Amino acid sequence: MNRYAHITGWGISVPDGLLTNDDIAQMVDTSDEWILSRTGIRQRYIAGDGQSTATLGADAALQALEVARVSPNDVDLIIVSTSSPEHIFPATASLVQDRIGAGKAGAFDLSAACTGFIIALNMAAQAIRTGSIETALVLGAETLSRLVNWEDRTTCILFGDGAGAFVLQASEEPGGVLSAVMRSDGSGGDLLTVPAGGSKLPTSPETIQDGLHYIQMNGREVFRFATRVMKQATEEAAEQAGMTLDEVNWIIPHQANQRIIETAARRLKIPMERVVVNLDRFGNTSTASIPLAAVEAIQDGRVKPGDQIVFVGFGAGLTWGAVAAQWTGPLPEEKRVVWPYRFYTLYQVYTRLRSLVLRFVRFVEGVIWGRRR
Ligand code: UT7
Repeated sequence: MNRYAHITGWGISVPDGLLTNDDIAQMVDTSDEWILSRTGIRQRYIAGDGQSTATLGADAALQALEVARVSPNDVDLIIVSTSSPEHIFPATASLVQDRIGAGKAGAFDLSAACTGFIIALNMAAQAIRTGSIETALVLGAETLSRLVNWEDRTTCILFGDGAGAFVLQASEEPGGVLSAVMRSDGSGGDLLTVPAGGSKLPTSPETIQDGLHYIQMNGREVFRFATRVMKQATEEAAEQAGMTLDEVNWIIPHQANQRIIETAARRLKIPMERVVVNLDRFGNTSTASIPLAAVEAIQDGRVKPGDQIVFVGFGAGLTWGAVAAQWTGPLPEEKRVVWPYRFYTLYQVYTRLRSLVLRFVRFVEGVIWGRRR
């Protein structure tokens, strides 16, 4: 019996802090006209105090679980794709797991920059298809505003913060994630990078003085690379899934630049009416951009059950990839109302208390075992 990995839940979370092009023009030598004409971006949202990759990710995850009518306790695996994790370790995925109270889930982060959501989707789908798990949460979550040099006009105009989540569930009905293309070319690693803060160049007063803890990018080269690989990855993913490009209802691309998306669509001979774009309002949210665009298109009724979709991404690494999927929606048998979502605030109090109790038990155990030694 074949197993399929269906996308059965979805959610997004963006911070409250709105930053318009005019606001940025007060900070660096740029203008709304330049940013809009070169990128298509009008505004973006920036995380404030108390908001971070894990908090945005957890919000999106709970919404996605609610749509799928799946309890956090039924999640087997959480993958958080991010380039702006809470820490080098522990994984942001573990912090999300704690925040949503997913007591039986494994969790790990996936680092493939803006392509990460594509790869995470494929990894989760593979784990479901092999029978190793039943239910996965796949998140793209970023607070890249924390890695942006707000004095560098070539990068600070682009990025925004946000998170998107999909629930994937096993089913014997055909559909869901059908194929995937994953590629990398590390020879272009220097084109888009945060040079310091890792093992090669640990943080030091010098790296901070030289601004090496900020995003550095060769925009023109990334642009050229992106337009080339988006066509190739989209065609390959569609072909592997047995779809012609005419049969693809929606292309949902990484939201980096309106001109990149339009060039790729033109090369694919796909009209822009079949391409989902929302970067004008959110900017480039890196690995969160594909789920942010997808969820908007589902919520406003553009994407319907049965639609065939290609998700396509590219980014630092260099990395690129695409996933072809058939959209289905929540599984029909999942009719039950799951209690956390009815009493959302109460549930959040419960997960905080649960986390505190676990910390307290660990503390007590530590004291007891410490004495015995
Ligand atoms: O998720 C992947 C992340 N990265 C990307 O997707 C980036 C892909 N690249 C791009 O989107 C574009 O290359 C940018 C939007 C970053 C830049 O657009 P561009 O049309 O490639 O501009 P450019 O770098 O060729 O620069 C053109 C001019 C330069 O001036 P000169 O040398 O011609 O006098 C820049 O100094 O525009 C200048 N410039 C600006 N002017 C006003 C660069 N940034 C700005 C700015 N405001 N913010």
